[in-house]
Amino acid sequence: MDELRDAAQATEAHIAVHWKEEEYYWPPAKFIAQANAGDPGILERFSEKHFPECFKEYADLLTWDTYWHTTLDTSNPPFWKWFVGGTLNASYNCVDRHLARNRNKAAFIWVPEPEDESTAVITYQELFARVNEFAALLRDFCKVKAGDRVTFHLPMVPDLPVAMLACARLGVIHSEVFGGFSGFACGDRIVDSGSHILVTMDAYYRNGDLLDHKVKADQAVEYAREHGVTVDKVLVWRRLPGKYSSPTPMVEGRDFFVDDLLKDYRGARVEPTSMPAEAPLFLMYTSGTTAKPKGCQHSTGGYLAYVAGTSKYYQDIHPEDTYWCFADIGWITGHSYIVYGPLALGATSVIYEGVPTYPDPGRSWRIAERLGVNIFHTAPTTIRMLRKAGPDEPKKYNYHFKHMTTVGEPIEPEVWRWYYDVVGKGEAVIVDTWWQTENGGFLGSSLPALQAMKPGSCGPGVLGVYPVILDEEGNEIPAGSGKAGNICIRNPWPGIFQTIWGRPERFVETYYAKYCTNTESKDWQDWPYFAGDGATHAADGYFRILGRVDDVINVAGHRLGTKELESAALTVDEVAESAAVPVVDELRGRTVEMYVALKPGRDSSAETEAKVSYAIETIIGKIARPKNVWIVPDMPKTRSGKIMRRVIASISNFTDVGDVATLANPEIVESIRRKVQAEKVARGDLPKALSAQELEEIQRFGRVE
Ligand code: WTA
Repeated sequence: MDELRDAAQATEAHIAVHWKEEEYYWPPAKFIAQANAGDPGILERFSEKHFPECFKEYADLLTWDTYWHTTLDTSNPPFWKWFVGGTLNASYNCVDRHLARNRNKAAFIWVPEPEDESTAVITYQELFARVNEFAALLRDFCKVKAGDRVTFHLPMVPDLPVAMLACARLGVIHSEVFGGFSGFACGDRIVDSGSHILVTMDAYYRNGDLLDHKVKADQAVEYAREHGVTVDKVLVWRRLPGKYSSPTPMVEGRDFFVDDLLKDYRGARVEPTSMPAEAPLFLMYTSGTTAKPKGCQHSTGGYLAYVAGTSKYYQDIHPEDTYWCFADIGWITGHSYIVYGPLALGATSVIYEGVPTYPDPGRSWRIAERLGVNIFHTAPTTIRMLRKAGPDEPKKYNYHFKHMTTVGEPIEPEVWRWYYDVVGKGEAVIVDTWWQTENGGFLGSSLPALQAMKPGSCGPGVLGVYPVILDEEGNEIPAGSGKAGNICIRNPWPGIFQTIWGRPERFVETYYAKYCTNTESKDWQDWPYFAGDGATHAADGYFRILGRVDDVINVAGHRLGTKELESAALTVDEVAESAAVPVVDELRGRTVEMYVALKPGRDSSAETEAKVSYAIETIIGKIARPKNVWIVPDMPKTRSGKIMRRVIASISNFTDVGDVATLANPEIVESIRRKVQAEKVARGDLPKALSAQELEEIQRFGRVE
C-alpha cells in the first residue's frame, strides 16, 4: 500500500497543474433578452444562506397532490429526504397536466434513422393515450404494482419514454438498460433489481443496419434464470409495424408482441398513483470500482423537481422551443434531459434513433434545419466525430441554435471553439454541464445568460450546489491555487440519488466515507459528497474537470469499470490475470487497452487476443471492445501483489512510467514497454502529445484500490 500511496502523492493533488487560462465568451445579447434566468437576483436566491429552502422554487414547478411540509430532512445522513410529506405522480406531471392547454402540441418528435422513413410526431394527447394503454397492460396483464421493478432493454424509440411514463403512472420502478449493452449485461441488471418483466424490441436501426435486438432478451432471461431470477414475461415491441424483424424465435407463453396485447387495452385509462416524494422513480445502473454495476436509485419528487428546474434555467427551455438532446435515453442524460425534465416543462423534445453521421455527415444538421431545432445538447465525442467527418457541413444548413450543451466528458478548448463558431455559428450560448448518473441533474455549469463561458471549464457550481476541492487529507484546496484535487459537493441537492439499490453500505462507503469526519453528525455540513472526479478550481470560481480518480474509464462518454472489463477477460479459459487501462483517443476521448497474462503452458496467440476482445464485447457490449489486447508474461505488481495499472497505462500512452524501483518485479516493465510500443509504432499508432489534463489522468490511473 505504501508504494501506492507514494505514487499517488507524487502524481496527484500535490502537483501544481499549469493550465493555459482560456478567455471568456459572453452570451449573445439576443439570448440574454429572452433567458429564463436573466435576473441576477436568482444567484442570491440560491445562495447558501437560503439553503435548502431555495429549492422550493424548483418544487413549485411541479403539481403536487399533497404539498410537502419539510424541504430537507437530514435526520438519517447521508440518506437525505427532500420535500417530505409531499405526494405526486411523475407521469401526471409530465403528461396529464399539459393536456388542458397543450393537448395538440408535440411532446416528442421521433426521427427514425432511415431517411426515407417519415418523422413521427407524438402530441401530448397521443402520449397520454399511449402511456395509459401501456400502463393498463403492465397492471392487468403483467400484474405489476407500485414498488415492483420492470427492466427495459430498449433502443431510441418513442416506446421507451412511453414505457417509462407508464411505470411512473403506476409507481412501478423502471430500470432501463442501454440498448447497446449485451444480453448478459441486461441479465445482470435484471437479477440485481429483481425484475420479473422485461420490455424489449425486436430490432432497431444503427448505421444503416437493422440490428437483431431480441436475441439479447433470450440471453438476458437465461442469465437471470441461472442466477435465480425468473423473468415471467418478455414484452416485445416491433420496430416495423406488424412485422417481426428478428430471426430469433418468440418463446411461447413467455414472449408477447406489445402491439398484439395493446389491442385489448385500446382507450384504457389508468388513474395516476399518488406517490410519496421519496418513492423511487427509477434505477439507472452505472460502473464503479467493483465488477458489479451500481443501481442508482432516484426519487420521484426531488428528482423531478431538480430536472425540471435545471431544464428551465440551464437548458433555457421555453414553450415555443424545439429541443434536441442527442444522448441515449439508456443513460442518465436521456432520462433527465430528453424525457423527465423537458416533459415536466411541457416542452417539445426530439428523439433520434441513429448515429449522427448516417448516411452522411450532414444528417444532424438536416434534422436541425427541418425541425427548427433551436436548443442542441450532445457530448464531446459526438462533437469530435461530427467535426472530423464534416468540418464545414453546418454552414450548408439553415438552422439557428440559441443554446447548446456539452456533457459527459471534458471538452478540449479547441473542440469547444469549433462547436461555438461552426455548429453554433457564433449565435448560441454554450453550457458545459458536469454531473453524473448518481446526481440526477447538473452539478457544475455556467448559468447561460448570467455567467460567461470559459472553454474547457464547466463553470461554477449550479444554483444551490456548492462544490469544493479537497486534498487527500480533507483540506480544502483554495480557488486559484492551480492545484488539482478531488471535487466534492458540500451539500445535498434534490436530484441526488437515494442509495445504491439493495446496497446502502456501499452507498455510504463509496460516496461519503472518504470525507465524513463525524458519522454521528446529523448536520449535512459534515457529509461532503465525493464525486470521484479530479478537478481544479480557478480564481474566478470556475471548475475544470480532469476526469475520474477511480478505476473508471470514460469511453466516448460511456462509463466502463476496469473491474468489469477485467472480469469479462477472465472468462477466457487461457487468461490468468488481466488489467484494463485507458488510452487517449482523438475521437472517443479514451479507448480501452487490455493486458492479459496467461495460465502456465498456454500459448500466446492472435486467437487468444481475439477471444478476449470477443468476451468483452459479448459480456458488456460493443462499446467496450478494446483497441488492443496485449499478452504479457506477467503484470507489473507492488510487493503486496497489486497490479500497477498506472504503469501499464503509461506504457500504452507512451508516457513516463515513473519510478518503478519499488515494484516486486521492476524488470518486467521494460520488457512490456518494448514489446507494446514497438508493436504500436509498427501499426502506425504513434505517440501523441498529451495535454496536462490527459497526462494527469494516465499517471494517476488506478490509484484507488
Ligand atoms: C464525466 C454523465 C468533464 C465525469 C452525465 C463524471 C464530465 C462522469 C462532464 C459521469 C463534463 C461528465 N466535463 N467531465 N461536463 N460531465 N463528466 O455517470 O468524469 O455517465 O464523473 O454521467 O463523466 O458519467 P455518467
